[in-house]
Amino acid sequence: MTITTERLLLRPLTLDDAEAAFEWTGDERVAKYMIYSTHESIETTKEWLRTVKSTDTQFEFGFVRKSDGKLIGSGGIRLYDDGFWEFGYNFRYDCWGMGYATEASKAMIDNVRSRYGDIRLKAECAAENTASAHVIEKCGLHFVSFGEYQSYDGLKTFRSKKFEL
Ligand SMILES: CC(C)(COP(=O)(O)OP(=O)(O)OC[C@H]1O[C@@H](n2cnc3c(N)ncnc32)[C@H](O)[C@@H]1OP(=O)(O)O)[C@@H](O)C(=O)NCCC(=O)NCCS
Repeated sequence: MTITTERLLLRPLTLDDAEAAFEWTGDERVAKYMIYSTHESIETTKEWLRTVKSTDTQFEFGFVRKSDGKLIGSGGIRLYDDGFWEFGYNFRYDCWGMGYATEASKAMIDNVRSRYGDIRLKAECAAENTASAHVIEKCGLHFVSFGEYQSYDGLKTFRSKKFEL
């Protein structure tokens, strides 16, 4: 499945994306608040790309900048057992601050709405991650509580902000 926005093409990720994706998965500034740890080599990025999959209740995308055809980020939206859809994203460092995360997130949300109608949405970010909180709020969600989440490897624990719509 692909989605087109004003500046982005959202499309499935493939193993061929490893080199472009490693530009952010290997960047500690991007991984800082993510549940993955910075990829130490492109092999880790390839392993991740081999596991990425979309289903009827989980949509994962690579975000391609239409102007130059470059893959500049990735993200997804999925349905959880609590009935809420949750979305997330990360972008190449030199592409921050240009509204891409908001544009991609709104497109993912609209796409799920067009398939499933009224949906409940949630999102969570590190309490310190002001940019991400701002993206979430620009997508219409509001703060509901503080929480905590851990990285996959259990090495990082973050105080978080939880949002809902
Ligand atoms: C979070 C992230 C995706 C934001 O991407 P982005 O494309 O820069 O986001 P946008 O430009 O759509 O919106 C960011 C908003 O936050 C604001 N912002 C950015 N840094 C900020 C800061 N330090 N303090 C306050 N606001 C900030 C921007 O001004 C912008 O708001 P505006 O459009 O009203 O000006 C990007 O920084 C990233 O990839 N970070 C690393 C991965 C990550 O943390 N992902 C989220 C995990 S929950």
